[in-house]
Amino acid sequence: MICMDPMPQQFDIRLDTLTGANSDSRESAAVLSPTASGGNTFYLETFGCQMNAHDSEKVAGVLLGRGYKQVETIDAARLVLYNTCSIREKAAQKIYSRLGAYAKYPGEEKIIGVLGCVAQQEGEEIFERSPWVRLVCGSASYSKLPDLISELESGNRRVMGLDKDTDATFETEITRRDNPFRAYLTIIEGCDKACSYCVVPFTRGPERSRASASVLEEARRLADAGYSEIQLLGQTVNSYKDPSAKRMSFAELLVAVAAVKGIRRVRFTTSHPRDFGRDIVEAIDAVPELCSHVHLPVQSGSTRILREMLRTYTREEYLEKIAMIRAARRPISVTSDVIVGFPGETEEDLEETLSLLDILQYDGVFAFQYSPRPNTAAQHMPDAVPEEEKGRRLALVMDRQREIQRARNESLIGNTYEALVDGASRREGQWSGRCSSNRILNFTSPRENLLGEYVQVRVKSASPNCLVGEHAI
Ligand code: 5AD
Ligand code: SF4
Repeated sequence: MICMDPMPQQFDIRLDTLTGANSDSRESAAVLSPTASGGNTFYLETFGCQMNAHDSEKVAGVLLGRGYKQVETIDAARLVLYNTCSIREKAAQKIYSRLGAYAKYPGEEKIIGVLGCVAQQEGEEIFERSPWVRLVCGSASYSKLPDLISELESGNRRVMGLDKDTDATFETEITRRDNPFRAYLTIIEGCDKACSYCVVPFTRGPERSRASASVLEEARRLADAGYSEIQLLGQTVNSYKDPSAKRMSFAELLVAVAAVKGIRRVRFTTSHPRDFGRDIVEAIDAVPELCSHVHLPVQSGSTRILREMLRTYTREEYLEKIAMIRAARRPISVTSDVIVGFPGETEEDLEETLSLLDILQYDGVFAFQYSPRPNTAAQHMPDAVPEEEKGRRLALVMDRQREIQRARNESLIGNTYEALVDGASRREGQWSGRCSSNRILNFTSPRENLLGEYVQVRVKSASPNCLVGEHAI
């Protein structure tokens, strides 16, 4: 995968830390009580996308609000939670290997919970496969999480939330955010599209948009708390439909969030090509706070495969969308997702994807091997592409895209960009930040205390995945 975004941090289970307990505890439930001994502890590991990362912030917020303390090791935790991803099989398997560790060392000490998309997908089966799990709560049922935790606290052996026919979105007072400078803000949950490969409509349920006033209220609170960059989130963020009488369009909401005092940057992800209109490009053109980046996944360059994927657009229609973005008055970087090895994908279809990369010169691409998922239309489609062949195709896509990115980034040498500094290297004077285009900028500066600052950086060199420069003082 050619990433512009680092994967969320993950921690490995240390088996020796799980052996603390004594008797076989599986039948007698330990009571989880945050008040019993001056507060309880939780450990939370997150897999998957930004939606999941943000859900974890909310879950942590719920627990912190109830008097729990977050710890960095399983060792130190009473409640161990896994927020899981099921987008591809490998991601889903990871959770069972995590849970498998507890089979060898069953213990009263830890209370194990599975949250997120695997929980939604597998439901009760998790209890069957891993009987030591006590909480299963799917990503479409998070509004129930506080109640589920209450039940655990009062000693219920097993609690489960898997409702999907809920209108509720997961709104909570968030007391912890992982990034001190960039805050996530969910504007739409679930997905009403029906891409034949995708498990998300099943795991996250139907589309629910938040009222624009509630979104703006949260944006104001984030600005007051010192965040200057907001990333609006949704599986299909631009399908946003304001449920309130205001009926704000997505583009109008972008402009309104950007107008919140103290907000200097607004991003949004992920957009669906079908709902991507000219008004979004016009908003970006008109409002400097809206970042010059659009993530618009194409998935395949072949109209035939796009039809099989039920993406609802053709190669030509997609090309027109990009032409519209590229016609903007300021350069807007465009990134994409690509799936290789979808059932029935021929050598010619793959060539069409490769030629699309050549034509579009994306600024970044996340490329994936197709992985059949339960409850999806494509699961049993004929003409599966062999795994080895998928691997070969993935390498072709990644190699082609790497060279495109190298050339694109090298063409930026000599330019100066504004970076929001979000990382400091251990080596003195070395910093890292992001441009409006979402490129990573590593740079040197003689100044100190730059974290959270906006600085001008002159680009001196480039690689496929980042720019390297120096503070232009
Ligand atoms: N197999 C492989 N990749 C997938 N994606 C979604 N479902 C699958 C699947 N079954 C990819 C798509 C999507 C990204 C988040 O994950 O490219 O845009
Ligand atoms: Fe996120 Fe999709 Fe994975 Fe769920 S399945 S965690 S929504 S990437």
